[in-house]
Order: sequence, then C-alpha cells, then structure tokens
Amino acid sequence: MITKPTIDRIMEATDIVEVIGEFVQLKKRGANYVGLSPFANERTPSFTVSPAKGIFKDFSSGKGGSAITFLMELEKFTYPEALKWLAKKYGIEVEETIESTENREEENRRESLMIVSGYAAKFFHESLLDTDEGQSIGLSYFKERGFSNETIKKFELGYSPDQWEAFTGQALKDGYQEEFLAETGLSVKRDNGSLYDRYRGRVMFPIHSFTGRVIAFGGRTLKSDKNVPKYVNSPESEIYHKSNVLYGLFFAKKAIREEDNCYLVEGYADVLSVHQAGIENVVASSGTSLTVEQIRLISRFTKNITILYDGDAAGIKASLRGLDMILQEGLNVKVVLFPDGHDPDSFVRNFGTNGFKKHIDENKKDFILFKTDILLKEAGNDPIKKAEVIREIVESIAKIPDSIKASVFIKECSYQLQIDERALLSELNKMRSAKAKKDGQQGFRTAPADEPQFDEPEVRIERADEFTQEKEIIRLLLLYGNKVIDWDGIANTYIGPFMIAELSDVEFENTTCKVFVEIYRREVENGVLPDEQYFIHYADKEIVDLAVNQIATKYTLSENWYEMHKILVNDEQVNMKATILGAIFHLKKQKVGKILEGLRKELQNTSAEADQEILLNQYMHMKKVEKTISDYLGSVILK
Ligand code: CTP
Ligand code: MN
Repeated sequence: MITKPTIDRIMEATDIVEVIGEFVQLKKRGANYVGLSPFANERTPSFTVSPAKGIFKDFSSGKGGSAITFLMELEKFTYPEALKWLAKKYGIEVEETIESTENREEENRRESLMIVSGYAAKFFHESLLDTDEGQSIGLSYFKERGFSNETIKKFELGYSPDQWEAFTGQALKDGYQEEFLAETGLSVKRDNGSLYDRYRGRVMFPIHSFTGRVIAFGGRTLKSDKNVPKYVNSPESEIYHKSNVLYGLFFAKKAIREEDNCYLVEGYADVLSVHQAGIENVVASSGTSLTVEQIRLISRFTKNITILYDGDAAGIKASLRGLDMILQEGLNVKVVLFPDGHDPDSFVRNFGTNGFKKHIDENKKDFILFKTDILLKEAGNDPIKKAEVIREIVESIAKIPDSIKASVFIKECSYQLQIDERALLSELNKMRSAKAKKDGQQGFRTAPADEPQFDEPEVRIERADEFTQEKEIIRLLLLYGNKVIDWDGIANTYIGPFMIAELSDVEFENTTCKVFVEIYRREVENGVLPDEQYFIHYADKEIVDLAVNQIATKYTLSENWYEMHKILVNDEQVNMKATILGAIFHLKKQKVGKILEGLRKELQNTSAEADQEILLNQYMHMKKVEKTISDYLGSVILK
C-alpha cells in the first residue's frame, strides 16, 4: 500500500487544472475552467474544473471528483495506479508498505511478476545497447530495419544473449525468485528443477500494459531457419492475458483520443514503424484474431477503428467474421488494404509518412462495403452464391446497433449489390426480429429496431429520492462540519461532531451515506475533523462521488448561477442552527415515519389480540415521538 505521507505529498503537488489540462482543452471562466467533456460527445462545454476545490464535474456524464478520480475514469487506472501516475508527473518518490491479508498477497504476487518483467526489460534493453553481442547482432538488426534510437528507447526494445542462462543467472544473482521467473515465462524449468532462458539470441519486444508497465515479451529470432519459430511469446500469466492486451496501446492512447481513431495493424514491427513515422494512434493485435476485450479496450478511447491489412487475401477472408463483432460493439470500422507484398511497416518505410497517409485516405473503405466488394468478387456470376453474399452482408448490417447508420448502409449496399433497397430492408427486419425473439428468450429486453435513439440530456439534475434527507446531512457535514457552533445553549463545539452525536440513534439506509458517516465518526473519535478535501481524495470512488455530488452542483460551479447560489448559501448560514437542526430532525422524522409505516403493516397482519396491543402501544409511542419532532421542527425553523 502506498504510505500516507506519500499520498499527502502527491495531493499537495497535484494541480488539478494542470493534470486535466493534459487531456482536455480548458478555458478559464471566472474562478473555474471549462472544456468539452472527455466522457461524452458534446458541442457546448459542460465539463467544469474548480481549482479552488480541487474538483471537476462533468455535467454531461455526471462524473466528478478529484484529479485522481479523473485519471481513474479516463485512463481506467486503479487508485494506486493513478497515484503513481501523479507521483511520476511531479517527481515524487513512492513509498509502499506491505500488508499481509490474502488480497494483499495476490496483489503482491502480481506486483512481483511486474517487477520481474520490468527488471527483464531493463536487462534486455541494456544488453542490446551496452554489450558487444547486443550491439553487433541485435542493434544492427534494428538499425537495418530502420528503427531510430528514439524508437528503440521509447519501446524499450532489447536483446537476449545467445546463451542458456545469461538472463536467468543474472536475475537469480540479483535476488529475483525462481517462482516469478518461471511464472512470467522468462525462464523455463528443466526436469532437474534448474532454470534456463526462454529467449536466446532473440531481439525483444516488451509488451506494456495500458498503464505502461511491462507485462510480457515477444522475442523475434534473427535466423531464417524455417524450423525455428519466428516469434516466441510470453505464456499467459497472472499479469498477462493475451486477449486483453493490445501491443502499443500505452504509447498510442493519447493520440487515439486526439485523432478519435485507432489504426489496427498485425505486428510489432508495423506498430513501431508507423509510430516512428509520426502516426502514433496505432496498435497491434499481435498476430491473433481480435477479441471482444481488445475492442472494448479501444472503445474506451475512440469509436473509430481503421484496420490496416497486408494484401494477403486468405488472411482477410478469415478475419471478416471477427469484424462483425466490432460492429456489434457499436464501433465504426474502416478497412485499408496494402498492395501485395507490403505491410504497413514496409509501406511507411518506402513511401514515407505522407505517402502512407495518402494511401489510407484514398483506399479506406467502410467495412461493410469492403466486405461486400470482396464477397461479390468471389461470387462472380453465380446467382446462388450472390444470394448467399446478400444474406451475409445483411447479417453484418443487422449487428449495427444504431438503426440510422444501418439504414445508410442498406442504401449503399443496395447500389453495390444492384438489388432493390426494399428487398434488403425486409431481409434486415426479418433478421432483427429473429434476433429480438432469440434475445427475448434469454430474458433480455431489446429495443425495437426503429425506436429513435435520443442522447442523454445535457444536464442531469439529481432528483429528490428517498435518500435526499440522508444526503443533505452529508452535504452539511462537508460544508460546515468544521465550523464552530455558537448558538444559544450550545457552544464551543464543532458542527460535525455535534451532528454525528445527534445522529447516533439514526440508521442510514443508503449504503454510501452510511459508510460516509461511519468514516466521519471514526475520524472524529481519532481527534480528526475530516473536511471537503479529505472526502474528495478518499480512496473509495463511491465516497468521492457522493462528496462531489453534494459539493458540486451546476449552481456552485457555473458562473451565471454563482451569484444566485451565494444568496442561497448565505441564507442557510444566517440561521445555522435552523439549518443544522432542521436537517437532523427532518431525517429523524422521516425515519420515524418509516417505523410507523412498518407498525401499521404489522398491525394489519396480526390477528392475535395480545400482539396487537403491544404493537398498538409501540405505535402510539412513535406517534408521540413524531409529534415532538414536528413541534420541535416548527419552533426551530420559526425562530
Ligand atoms: N506472430 C507470432 N508468432 C509467430 C508469427 C507471428 O506471435 N510465429 C505475431 C507477432 O506478434 C507478429 C505478428 O504476429 O508481430 C505479425 O506476424 P508477422 O507479420 O510475421 O511479423 P512482423 O511483426 O511483421 O515481423 P517482421 O516484419 O519482422 O517479419
Ligand atoms: Mn513485417
């Protein structure tokens, strides 16, 4: 676990405007900054950052929180990953402690595997650059392939010496455990239990997780011997699930977001060459067919994928089916073919950045049209085959969740297939209703195909719900908890502890509110008064969300409403006693109301007279409590 002093140092150094500014273009407006939401498609900015409070609030998606929450939302970091990202940005050394719960152990195992992998990447990288063998064999190979020093450094390319134990021996000497060397597949166990290097005499491509840590390797042979596998890759492990990883994503994600498009290529070399040419939004599926997880990974950053194929027809046909999956996920897919004998790597090296871009611009085709083209060519003049093509194409179109987009494709394909649009449409509807029926049987509700899709309203106003009273308590604790009370009769105490004590007999029903109050109580017992910042930076996202939602309203964060809100705030501060006691007793009244309701139901369902009498007594008692509270509320509010 990252230590408290480290977290404090990170929090202190973090400038939320600076952090968010790396991802969103922000404009100053009054005391705040605004920009276009990175979480939603919008034309008018509703994304607000308040440097004074250290929070952001996105009124489009409803997301909000600290700089850490932002990184967790946008980059899909875990809490410690976000902290580490900030620590790196601000040059803060991270101290960690080890805990020994079972969860920790698993965390520690994963961490150990990543540490070994990072160590290995460094070993291979240094052996490439600093040893004679590495330079003369590995480095000269990379140079021949046109990779610059910068690319080699950025992607941490390496070389594994052509010996049995060069890496393993050094790693053991440096204290790395056999268990982790074997689990990562960096070393392989012999029958007698000793370990040897998996990659010998290969150039090394480290594979990074999308947070930038090395989790696996691909090692390419330099021999042209057909019996030697061209690539040896890391086995699956606790940190490496091949189907969840895209090579190069860590280095590409910023550009993917900026360009709102992701190029998908096949190999390591393609990623490196295209990236080096300045086209950085490129990732590789590493030779395997694309998985749903990989597509979802991309769709966190963009909804547009452009697949770059080398001109090998067999390979293309094989992958056409897999691509339907991308359509199903609601992504827009374009396809570009490269001329026979070329892959993106060789093409960009031959024709340069501009030639490459030009080729893409001139040859990119929408996936459906591309598929139609290929299948049609194959079918030739055979009418039966052609009918089959039509069915297949409509099947693909039926997978597109957006019905407007689907109908555009129907139109274009009807032209391409030279078949009446209405015939295609009726085929489409047949498939859709068959699908809806099938999904229905599985218990899913599917929207009718032609139901128009509306965007979410720009601003979500939090509706009053049964937890409104509980949330009001949270809001007051956050805003006024550390203010001193100076009311007649009560003085010399803080509002927060006072409220907590007053509410000790109240059971919060909303889980997050309940946890919030428990945290507050615990801290008060420890002699700490937790403030806004404490909760905004709390490790649990639900707590952060709750806190931010109570603090950040459209009114507090928007300049136009600010004046109005000031009036509101002033109002409630003028009679602080009424505000605080009012909230406490409103909540109590609500709870009593619920108890009464429960008693009423019980009374109805009980026939034994003795039980009825007990219940009736309880009921009368609670009625009195309710009346007392109401009277009290009246007197407090009226004062
Ligand atoms: N691949 C693999 N194992 C193999 C062959 C290929 O894992 N035996 C994967 C690698 O991720 C490789 C990708 O498939 O990057 C594409 O294969 P290929 O086009 O053969 O490799 P390139 O990366 O283009 O390598 P090079 O240009 O050096 O031949
Ligand atoms: Mn290649």
